[in-house]
Amino acid sequence: MDEISKGKSPFYPGQPVPTEFFIGRINEVHRIARTIGQVELGKPQAIFLTGEYGIGKSSLAGFMRYYAERNNNILGLHILLGGVESLEDVAAKTVEIVIRTQSYGLTITEKLRNFLSKYIGKQDLLGFSINFESLKADSPNISHGYLPFLRELLNRLNDDGIKGVMLILDEINGISKNPQFAHFIKTLVDENALSPDPLPLMLLLCGVEERRKDMIQHHQPIERIFDIVEISPMSKNEMEDFFNKTFSSVNMKVEPDAMSILCNYSAGFPKIMHMIGDVVFWIDKDNIVSADDAINGVLIAADEVGKKFVDQQVYKALRSKDYHSILAKLGKGDIDLSFQKSAIEEGLSDIEKRKFNNFLQRMKKLKVLKSGDERGEYIFNSRLVRLYIRLTSLEKK
Ligand SMILES: Nc1ncnc2c1ncn2[C@@H]1O[C@H](COP(=O)(O)OP(=O)(O)O)[C@@H](O)[C@H]1O
Ligand SMILES: [Mg+2]
Repeated sequence: MDEISKGKSPFYPGQPVPTEFFIGRINEVHRIARTIGQVELGKPQAIFLTGEYGIGKSSLAGFMRYYAERNNNILGLHILLGGVESLEDVAAKTVEIVIRTQSYGLTITEKLRNFLSKYIGKQDLLGFSINFESLKADSPNISHGYLPFLRELLNRLNDDGIKGVMLILDEINGISKNPQFAHFIKTLVDENALSPDPLPLMLLLCGVEERRKDMIQHHQPIERIFDIVEISPMSKNEMEDFFNKTFSSVNMKVEPDAMSILCNYSAGFPKIMHMIGDVVFWIDKDNIVSADDAINGVLIAADEVGKKFVDQQVYKALRSKDYHSILAKLGKGDIDLSFQKSAIEEGLSDIEKRKFNNFLQRMKKLKVLKSGDERGEYIFNSRLVRLYIRLTSLEKK
């Protein structure tokens, strides 16, 4: 058969999913939508969106921003704080995002740019550039007057029917380690609640649970201001829905055998689903995803996961022939992060048992595993390493 020329891949392994490909998460969407409804009515709200790396926090936040803009007339600002460590830089990023926002068409975009014209530099090929010098000079002031800044921004859009602001602070790994950040957030929320005319502000922080703990450690009262929404791995239905819809958007069909392989090995993790899906998209030749395509996809994606997310030393150790049978066993069954030593040992030969002991010690040294609270319990420190073992277990069959 002739090779089919491929168009654009509908998979997005490295970035939040575009809203048109967003799948599932119905309960979380409802919950956040209800909260947004409260903000539209004038009541400020704060949510901490939590879940593991790659589980879909940024995607859900992006989807809710779109939702709030469409259904509640709430202006969304999705601020990615990767690499940001100071409050001044939080302020500067915020200004940048406001300048670049294009949510509601020209009138609003222009009003926002007029408001911040001071920080807009010369026109360049992309339309304009940010005047970082003057932004940097003012960012300490903006960070000190963050709430008034947001208020002024919303005031400017009063005539346009905009009812509130949704502030999404995402990728907070760096900034949440700064003790000032917890105080900044608490003050923002309190100051707003106590003001005679609170700003309809929806605050949405995205981060793994450890980041929330960091913040609480820096400032205990942070614990009380957030409703917590936790994202879990996708269900089988959500996964099937994902693969069916995404493949059919490019006129590809998934055969039942292939579907069960795709779901089994991606184990509900959107990041892995996209990585496998993308590989399969490129290797398939006839627009029908067969079991063979799926198996090849899993194997190639396994290697990619290994190279991208598994530490070099661990990667090498895990590829040692000695550990094949152990890894094959660990790769089966559910994908809990913890396991009982005795459960894996069952059915291993004496030689394998010795290798298994050696494996456990080595993995502990490499910080892949730690001991659990129960006797004989081991816990994976990284979900992706755990998934890598599952993905490579296919190879060993
Ligand atoms: N609801 C969803 N539907 C489809 N793909 C998703 C969904 N949620 C996440 N993804 C995909 O999963 C991967 C990780 O998502 P992301 O939102 O970046 O996770 P996090 O912010 O939790 O690290 C991305 O490739 C993204 O495109
Ligand atoms: Mg993210």
